[in-house]
Amino acid sequence: MAPKPETLAAFEAAKGFMPLDEGLALHAAAREAAALRMPLLEVGTYCGRSTILLADAAREAGVTAVTVDHHRGSEEQQPGWEYHDASVVDPVVGRMDTLPTFRRTLHQAGLEEHVLALVGRSPQAAAVWGTPLGLVFIDGGHTDEHATADYEGWVPHLAEGGLLVIHDVFADPADGGQAPYRVYRRALGSGAFTEVSVTRSLHVLRRTGLGI
Ligand SMILES: C[S@@+](CC[C@H](N)C(=O)[O-])C[C@H]1O[C@@H](n2cnc3c(N)ncnc32)[C@H](O)[C@@H]1O
Repeated sequence: MAPKPETLAAFEAAKGFMPLDEGLALHAAAREAAALRMPLLEVGTYCGRSTILLADAAREAGVTAVTVDHHRGSEEQQPGWEYHDASVVDPVVGRMDTLPTFRRTLHQAGLEEHVLALVGRSPQAAAVWGTPLGLVFIDGGHTDEHATADYEGWVPHLAEGGLLVIHDVFADPADGGQAPYRVYRRALGSGAFTEVSVTRSLHVLRRTGLGI
């Protein structure tokens, strides 16, 4: 079932990087994973565009969407880089701060109470996390260091039968950075995952075995 029209409208109005077709695939994965009745985890909140979809699925199933971000932006979002947005710079601190925009996005979508937002570094959050997860969505830092740390930190918490979703997977370096692709290859190579769907750069894998 597709998201409600008001959820889709909130998604399309939100700042972010996810196109509609990938968003619908993420939503379908979140709905399926939410049936496991465990939290859905996102690395890389930014301004909440993709969080809206996880939160909608979480609301339907009565589970919680958890989203992790330090809200200071990834490398490619810093001033002078391709994905920089000057409107999300905190003028007092002089650094990016996407947390206020994220909170506004979620409030306007009416989804605040279905989301637990963790503000900080993903590996630090993963290190103190202790609950099995129904879904892990990796869309944080896109360097090898960050993508690998997200994978190694959160995937051990993914329950058997749960879904691993990875964004910005590009087999061809001409299309984009390779770190998410390497993490995706690692997951398949581990023998613990089976591919469920591919929508442009968004890959959905199911945990069918132990290990990472
Ligand atoms: C590509 S954006 C996420 C986009 C979002 N999922 C969407 O669809 O709109 C990546 C986000 O990851 C965050 N990030 C990067 N490295 C991180 C880390 N090590 N810990 C926490 N957040 C991180 C950045 O601050 C940025 O907001």
